Amino acid sequence: MEIGTIVCLNGEFIPVRQAAIPVTDRGVLYGMGLFETIRVSGGSPRLLDLHLSRLFASAGELKLEVPFGKEEIAGLIRRTAAENRMERGGIRLTLTAGGESGRPSILITARNSPYRLDQYRAGIRAGFSAIKRNQSSPLVRHKTLSYYENVLARREAGAAGWDEAIFLNTSGNLAEGSVSNIFLVFGEKVVTPDLQSGLLPGITRRRAIDACAAIGLPLEERTVRPEELSQAGECFVTNSLMGVMPVASIGGMVVGSGRPGGITRIIMAALED
Ligand SMILES: Cc1ncc(COP(=O)(O)O)c(C=O)c1O
Repeated sequence: MEIGTIVCLNGEFIPVRQAAIPVTDRGVLYGMGLFETIRVSGGSPRLLDLHLSRLFASAGELKLEVPFGKEEIAGLIRRTAAENRMERGGIRLTLTAGGESGRPSILITARNSPYRLDQYRAGIRAGFSAIKRNQSSPLVRHKTLSYYENVLARREAGAAGWDEAIFLNTSGNLAEGSVSNIFLVFGEKVVTPDLQSGLLPGITRRRAIDACAAIGLPLEERTVRPEELSQAGECFVTNSLMGVMPVASIGGMVVGSGRPGGITRIIMAALED
């Protein structure tokens, strides 16, 4: 059976073609809602507690109702992975706002990971997006359904032959990737844009920061200028599905040796499950 055939909509497990969300849902009308992308490996969805905590915290701040409890959703996610006979891949959890008087929806879908082994071995190519991240937006630190800018940035990157687009913010500082957080390495020091730079507080970003502390690698969260990339020995991007991905070049400029660096590999190994 192909991964993605069975979805879970509001607790019901049904074929993907039968799943439908009401046309009055404000998720459909205004992009009001949230999502999480969760890694599945060894048949198990990983870090469910962290993903569900972020979803519930964002729902609270953005005044969205979550129609199921945390434990209940965790069970539905596990069962979606099992129904799709997934060994590895990604589960997407989508929460919509619902209609003015209608119920919100929880949709759980499964897919394969788009990341390839050769990308981890050689590093990916990234480039700067022409779109700027608005660090003062109330949405930038939440994983909302309003992902059109990210999609446009990725499309732009694809047309340029890049695997990922990197956003600068409106002050011209580094912010994040279209689907990832970004880290630079100078000598042994690891640097990543701070939350004020305008980014999603990624679960993998947090894990990479914690791994640096545990290993004893110095780490700074701060404002990062894009010009600093020319001095960086290594660069990598992170998200839940890809984990830690080395970046070989940005906008055609080779980073360091252009190969995955030693510190990147240490952090990759620390986060492996
Ligand atoms: C814009 C953006 N930033 C950062 C991330 C990384 O977040 P996480 O590590 O929680 O997957 C993502 C993940 O998809 C993202 O879309």
